[in-house]
Amino acid sequence: MFFSRLELDRDKSRALYLQVADHLRHRIESGELACDTRLPASRVLAKQLGVNRVTVVNAYAELEAEGLVTTKVGSGTYVTAANETSVHDDQTPMPVRLGGPPLRRHWNAGQMMNEMMRLARQPGVLSFAAGTPASEFIPVNEFRRAINDVLRRDGADALQYEEASGYFPLRQVIAEMLQDQDIEVKANDILITAGCQQAMDIALQVMARGKDNVLVVEEPCYLGLLDLLSSKRITPVGVPMDEHGMRVDQLEQIILRHRPSLIYSTPNFHNPTGISIPLERRMAMLEIAARYGVPILEDTTYDELYYESKPLPTLKSLDTNDIVFHAGGFSKTLVPGIRIGYLVAPQSLQERVVTTKQTTDILTSPLNQRALHAYLESGGFPDHLKMVRTAYQTRRDTMLAAMEQHFPDEARWQRPGGGIYLWVEMPQPGPTATELYLTAINYNVAFSIGSVFSAGGYFAHAMRLNFAGCPPDEIEEGIRRLGKAWKELLSRSNTLAEPRRVSLHIL
Ligand SMILES: Cc1ncc(COP(=O)(O)O)c(C=O)c1O
Repeated sequence: MFFSRLELDRDKSRALYLQVADHLRHRIESGELACDTRLPASRVLAKQLGVNRVTVVNAYAELEAEGLVTTKVGSGTYVTAANETSVHDDQTPMPVRLGGPPLRRHWNAGQMMNEMMRLARQPGVLSFAAGTPASEFIPVNEFRRAINDVLRRDGADALQYEEASGYFPLRQVIAEMLQDQDIEVKANDILITAGCQQAMDIALQVMARGKDNVLVVEEPCYLGLLDLLSSKRITPVGVPMDEHGMRVDQLEQIILRHRPSLIYSTPNFHNPTGISIPLERRMAMLEIAARYGVPILEDTTYDELYYESKPLPTLKSLDTNDIVFHAGGFSKTLVPGIRIGYLVAPQSLQERVVTTKQTTDILTSPLNQRALHAYLESGGFPDHLKMVRTAYQTRRDTMLAAMEQHFPDEARWQRPGGGIYLWVEMPQPGPTATELYLTAINYNVAFSIGSVFSAGGYFAHAMRLNFAGCPPDEIEEGIRRLGKAWKELLSRSNTLAEPRRVSLHIL
């Protein structure tokens, strides 16, 4: 019997489903239940244990959340992390247990990222991991004033349902901002969304409907887009990048082989690499996309955060075939929590995107839209942008100088002209970014490991550091700690007699 040794405490000192999960976890971690072992169907096990089926379903869900089992629809629940070498078998030190289980192998990218973010948020940890802009630059007072003014002026209208496409005066202001970037738009072409993330979600809903959709992405790629694709069961196919961004010379072959529904690109200050695509490549991308009739989804989240010169023209402004979806927002430049972004779809799809928006969440908060409009109309945005650009430029340069001083000589990075990230390539062979993360967290410093940004499971030896979120003194201290952790890890791995047997395959 599968559970011959399990005695459930019916007095419920611990919930029954947790007792079942504890028992299974123990058998998985001890290696007794090997990888790929199929667990009994929940109905069968529930009968065997004399419990409600929901108890077993919940126990399996608990283990799945921990990455120990996976459920394959129509097939069953399988052990994924059985008696394989654990994170610690390769002589890396045990990471500090900061109030939860240590990082496990076999988590998917999203789970791994969540766990890393949890560790990164512990008190005392200097974190370069998240994609957040600096809290201290969010104009709280200005928004308080804007919200009060709007409520006084518009009363219930600011709290009522309204057009799904968005508050017209805000669409007008955004249209003017885009016209300044040589994009030919009118207010009616603009759909207001809940952040740039929803703009992309809507473009995907419109373009990648039905089964077996493939999307071309840069490799590496913004994690939130990969998460969106995974939630919609759309397959990402990566185009490699070099120091000038997407290898457009490989795009045609990829399109011919995979017949994608859409090409996703962040031409300026790409997340996670900070790279911008030169003009010739932009033109080539547009030409290939038009030739094969594959629309492009352009993400401009970081365009306004430039530190030396203005970014090159957007794909939308260069688009003569009306094949570009242009998505943007105010999260990194102004305020993420108000959740306002926008989408300019190709003309023929504009009605569809509005209907899709309406179906998705009816409309974006009218109060927030009006408050943003009032803020933009007050005229403070250009000065705010100047201030943020100056501060982030200093933070970028502070981080670069600290990396120069504290990182091993073999580490490689570029100096991005904008955005908020530095992408660091670690020497190979050598410890992976996950191994460094586990060491670094003991030194109270955190970053994002490169592999979570990969559609194809690459970049185990890369990391992303956000330079915008911390003040310069914290940047210096954090990079000093990270350099120390890295050197400690390197000296430890150099003293290993055997070549390293284990690497953490987290994807
Ligand atoms: C490239 C990219 N696109 C979109 C987003 C999401 O932006 P928003 O907060 O406006 O939804 C982010 C956030 O990190 C991002 O990095």
